[in-house]
Amino acid sequence: MYYIGIDLGTSAVKLLLVDGDGTIFNTVSEEYPLYFPHPGWSEQHPEDWWTAVKKGLAALTEGFDKSQVAGIGCGGQMHGLVALDENDAVIRPAILWNDGRTEKQVAYLNDVIGKDRLSAYTANIAFAGFTAPKILWMKENEPENFSRIAKIMLPKDYIVYQLTGVHACDYSDASGMLLLDVQHKCWSKDMLAICGVTEAQLPHLYESFDVVGELRPDVADEFGFGAVKVVAGAGDNAAAAIGTGTVGEGKCNISLGTSGTVFISSERFGVDQNNALHAFAHADGHYHLMGCMLSAASCNKWFCEDVLGSGDYAALQSGITEDKLGNNRVYFLPYLMGERSPINDVNARGAFIGLSMDTSRSDMVQAVLEGVAFALRDSVEKARELGIAVNASNLCGGGAKSPLWKTILANVLNLRLDTVKTEEGPGYGGAILAMVGCGLYHSVQEACETLVSVTDSVYPDPELQAKYEQRYRNFRKLYPALKDTFRELKEND
Ligand code: XUL
Repeated sequence: MYYIGIDLGTSAVKLLLVDGDGTIFNTVSEEYPLYFPHPGWSEQHPEDWWTAVKKGLAALTEGFDKSQVAGIGCGGQMHGLVALDENDAVIRPAILWNDGRTEKQVAYLNDVIGKDRLSAYTANIAFAGFTAPKILWMKENEPENFSRIAKIMLPKDYIVYQLTGVHACDYSDASGMLLLDVQHKCWSKDMLAICGVTEAQLPHLYESFDVVGELRPDVADEFGFGAVKVVAGAGDNAAAAIGTGTVGEGKCNISLGTSGTVFISSERFGVDQNNALHAFAHADGHYHLMGCMLSAASCNKWFCEDVLGSGDYAALQSGITEDKLGNNRVYFLPYLMGERSPINDVNARGAFIGLSMDTSRSDMVQAVLEGVAFALRDSVEKARELGIAVNASNLCGGGAKSPLWKTILANVLNLRLDTVKTEEGPGYGGAILAMVGCGLYHSVQEACETLVSVTDSVYPDPELQAKYEQRYRNFRKLYPALKDTFRELKEND
């Protein structure tokens, strides 16, 4: 039998066709546009996602026996606000996870409602990308749209809805709405009241591996599929963690995609008392802590493709020879869309610091890779401050394909970094969840133990790690020095 994993990303949807032994038979990717209607805003059309998924499903299964497709599982970009009217039509473009328009609503939630209450209700505080502040933004700025909302859902839930006709959401993704009582896995009545929405407007909650329904007959006919079970799926980070086998106590996964995340799985519920790390449910039925930076591999893409005008990353990195590592005098702040973890500042912006007449293009390319690694280290440090011993991590996402970036990361973070057979973490995780939902494995843990194995490990080198330790200390001084200036620049805009 075949299982399909769908990773609904920010720049594209990636689909994987896998069998029950985890062999990947085909992968396809379909892109869709991302809109920035104002600086710091970020939107997409849910209809574009569905069009791309349909195109992807057709291409993925072309030439395969479609009647053998047994299950589908989705991982998807988290936090995005998808609002449907009473006819299940999309009311406005989805407001995405990296959108920074809700500064005022976040201040209201954190300062007027108060972080202690939010944390008691949901285990988390408000961040600009989370869904609840966006609901408040819509209520305040688009009252007509707000009054038409019949259902609120997250991006991958819109795909699950199109596939099955069921309004569903899983606990891992729901955690990022700031509407879920994460510990007790139910909607928080207090948060719903604060946001002015009712439980009827929210999807039904499931574990990620629960089957929510079967493929709608018209969709099954369109693709020539038989009876296909669709599971609830997961937020992309929880799905990626499943795809890299990051289950069980204290296991870590770092995802280097459009966003950069540090994901620490846990068998027990726990909250970071400082709320620097998110406390969310995991897709294996347990919990995790997570730090998220908003622009990670996207910084590299932006600098190489948009600024330097080249997609030939290898050529742009060719000047970064071994002797250059740990010796760069240029620093880069990767806050191109503001930043979430741990600084929680929508006004922060990117910056190159330390340029001189002898700075080369490759020093700047290197600074971008290092700046992302330093910012990820900020989240790893928050976990270490909580007493979590992070000594090794899985690594996935587009950035994991670069041996150079892996070496920089291993030394900046002082971690052994393991890669598994596919960097397509969320898609593979989605397929694993589908296998569990179809009863092929008893638990996510059992499926991961059977299907995921490490293929490559990069170790920190003590000499290089010491050099990067010093560089990281320098990096840490830069944002505090610029913080007020970033705010003033925003106010003078
Ligand atoms: C996590 C987050 C991002 C998106 C990216 O909190 O906002 O990692 O899920 O797709």
